Amino acid sequence: MNHQQIRIVQESFLKIAPIAEVAADLFYARLFELDANLRPMFKTDMKRQGMTLMTMLGSAVRGLANPQALVPVLRGLGRRHVSYGVKEKHYDTVGQAFMDTLAHAFGPEFDDETREAWAAAYALMAALMKMGAQEMDGPTRAAA
Ligand code: HEM
Repeated sequence: MNHQQIRIVQESFLKIAPIAEVAADLFYARLFELDANLRPMFKTDMKRQGMTLMTMLGSAVRGLANPQALVPVLRGLGRRHVSYGVKEKHYDTVGQAFMDTLAHAFGPEFDDETREAWAAAYALMAALMKMGAQEMDGPTRAAA
């Protein structure tokens, strides 16, 4: 990600932060519309789950300027996701639901530049999480 993209993501996140709860609801509705099979993976109350996701996203967004600090956090998050039953292919579905949610939340302000900046931010987070997941050794992963 270049500096301009980081700035766009950080500034636009501030606009959706106040509607975090609505955005989280939109996200899960879109995710389960794309793949209803994912629903049973989520055990926690959806409201709490949604806020956790937005909080995590917020810290990732703030951390973009300093990815070194972000690496261990996202690797750890990726490892935990293996135990939630998450597979590599799910990152594409979640990415799609995420981008659709942003498009909906931002409306016409979601121009090509903003879209590309967010796609790059998601790709970075997903790549680091997948890296963490792959670091788990075979038996641990099989047991998860
Ligand atoms: C950038 C991508 C993602 C971020 C930032 C993210 C963030 C989070 C966070 C913060 C939690 C709370 C638990 C924890 O900290 O360990 C969580 C839980 C979870 N996430 Fe993700 N996640 C991402 C991708 C995915 C993907 C691709 C899936 C696949 C469907 C997924 C499914 C889940 C599930 C099933 C839980 C546990 C829910 C529960 O216990 O009810 N996440 N995620």
